[in-house]
Amino acid sequence: MDDRIVSGHEPEGAENNLDLHRATGSGGPGSGDTVCMASTIYQGLEVLFSRQQIAERVAQMGAQITHDLEGEKLVMIGVLKGAAPFLADLSRAIQVDATFDFVATSSYGKGQRSSGAVKLVKDLDHSIEGKNVLVVEDILDTGLTLSYLRKIFMQQHPKSLRIATLLDKPSRRIEKIDADYVGFSIPNLFVIGYGMDYAERYRNLPDICIMPPGHPE
Ligand code: IMP
Repeated sequence: MDDRIVSGHEPEGAENNLDLHRATGSGGPGSGDTVCMASTIYQGLEVLFSRQQIAERVAQMGAQITHDLEGEKLVMIGVLKGAAPFLADLSRAIQVDATFDFVATSSYGKGQRSSGAVKLVKDLDHSIEGKNVLVVEDILDTGLTLSYLRKIFMQQHPKSLRIATLLDKPSRRIEKIDADYVGFSIPNLFVIGYGMDYAERYRNLPDICIMPPGHPE
């Protein structure tokens, strides 16, 4: 029985995205899991991707990145705060000599809407000149954040720059940008958990859940 909350605001074509998840065996809505955690705080939240589905997909991404960067050194740049759990798991699935750095940008503030402007709140600790860079992001939405970061990182002339995002919402794109590695492509839903927040909450949910539509911002 499907007792999921009806999201009600998927864009046209959303069904195709969902079918793609099933076709590629990477899980997705309706794949069996229903509710995040047993706590009453999380009651009623629909699971979009379970921790098992995330772990499987992250392992696949790690294997691909290992293959692509065999014999090279890598700087993994996490975009705080949302990418922290993904970077932690992805890095352990990558078998190349890697170091970490982190940046923080301002974007969503307390609500679900982007202000449109991206500002660097925390810069890199070390130069990436001549380095292989993997930018690690939780979710690629409008593309404003990653377009901005790619631009400022390229000014340092890295040897290579790749982008890994766990989630991609292509229907929301404003800036033209694609990630080299995408965990799951999703329709226009606001999601929480596995690092992703709503007003700084829910980042520690082990599953990725759908924020019910109509939630006050
Ligand atoms: P972009 O600049 O619009 O691509 O947004 C990137 C950032 O927006 C992500 O790193 C997230 O912090 C935030 N974001 C976008 N969509 C969601 C969502 O569904 N849930 C939580 N955060 C989101």
